[in-house]
Amino acid sequence: MTSRRQFLHQAGWLGLVPVLPELGTITSYEPDLMTDDALFALIRKQLLIPANRLYLNTGSLGPSPLVVMDAVHAAMRELEMNPAAENWGPLGQRMEAVREIIAGYIHAEQEDILLTRNTTEGLSLVAQSIVLEPGDEILTTDQEHGGALVGLEYTTQNQGAHIRKMSLPLPTTGTDQILEVIRANLSDKTKMLLLSHVNTITGLVMPFAEIAKITRPRGILLVADGAQAPGQIPVDVSSLAVDAYATSGHKWLLGPKETGFLYVHPDLRPGIRSAFTQSGFAGYSASSGTRNVATIIGLGAAIQWHQEIGIERIRQRCLDIRNYCRERLQTLPGIEVISPDDESLSCGIVSYTLRDAKNNEVAQKLKDQDIIIKVLPGINGNRISCHLFVSKEDVDRFVEALSQAI
Ligand SMILES: Cc1ncc(COP(=O)(O)O)c(C=O)c1O
Repeated sequence: MTSRRQFLHQAGWLGLVPVLPELGTITSYEPDLMTDDALFALIRKQLLIPANRLYLNTGSLGPSPLVVMDAVHAAMRELEMNPAAENWGPLGQRMEAVREIIAGYIHAEQEDILLTRNTTEGLSLVAQSIVLEPGDEILTTDQEHGGALVGLEYTTQNQGAHIRKMSLPLPTTGTDQILEVIRANLSDKTKMLLLSHVNTITGLVMPFAEIAKITRPRGILLVADGAQAPGQIPVDVSSLAVDAYATSGHKWLLGPKETGFLYVHPDLRPGIRSAFTQSGFAGYSASSGTRNVATIIGLGAAIQWHQEIGIERIRQRCLDIRNYCRERLQTLPGIEVISPDDESLSCGIVSYTLRDAKNNEVAQKLKDQDIIIKVLPGINGNRISCHLFVSKEDVDRFVEALSQAI
């Protein structure tokens, strides 16, 4: 077997022959030889989500494809045959190699990557490490997830500093508008700016590179909450010009649950002070203690699976489906789409608010038809996640059900 065919075999592409024999010979299962429709239909069949269930909530938790489950399962079986020898031997080495896979995926170096359990943990590690003077400010928005805020609250309360939350307009219309809001809220007291790369409420893709041009010269730490980004849009930490970037493996990357990683810029790395990182950023170290090698190896498999499909192809697919969904939603009375119009600020998420109906009642009515959507907290709206396995027919089914529900 060539190494490519070996990879495809391991990744589960070739293993799916019995599922869709109508797609032709074995070589036609290679993603780059397949049409989008054939590929994404095949991917849908790699999920354990029952055929009639329409899953539109990857933003909360993503469904792992068979290839990822198989990677975890195989690693667990190997581990259980000789636990300590494997954990600190061959499997341990494969776990360490996942940091390199992550680094390749986000254009960083392996030493910059810390394996975490989720976004919350990564962001809290950064927040806890920064040294503030009484009166200093951490700037963020009023649309951040609680998992990002918890570390900020801990560190500001303990150091007599403040969190300042700026309001982002809904919908946000463009990069200039965002930059204006940021400029208006920065002051000499601002020590750190924390923003979501992809907004958890609206799916707005934050223009980090432009923002860094404002924060860098002022020496303000720029931290990205990347929970909603990797797996649906390309992430290049050097062009985003962030000092730290935290994410979860179990959302759009479709990886094993309780996996994640934190990128820390080399200049900031010595400033990350926690008992957990006392012995460095290695997957296993004296200060990390024993890790779950099987799920971490599964995260590596999930990332490689995305790379094999093509990161740009996935981004385009998510955007196409969300554009279709958005257009259809805009025809419904009583609905206001709150996700951006501007494609350069958009991804696979589309959200709306409801004029008369209640968001949780609508979600329940859809759930009764096996359509799963997210109830947005704090506003009367819902969020729809259009990952690569969602089709236009799925969107039609959702919009028709929503139209009945409201
Ligand atoms: C923007 C954002 N940040 C942080 C989190 C928390 O993620 P986790 O529970 O994986 O730490 C979420 C979860 O939805 C999120 O959307």
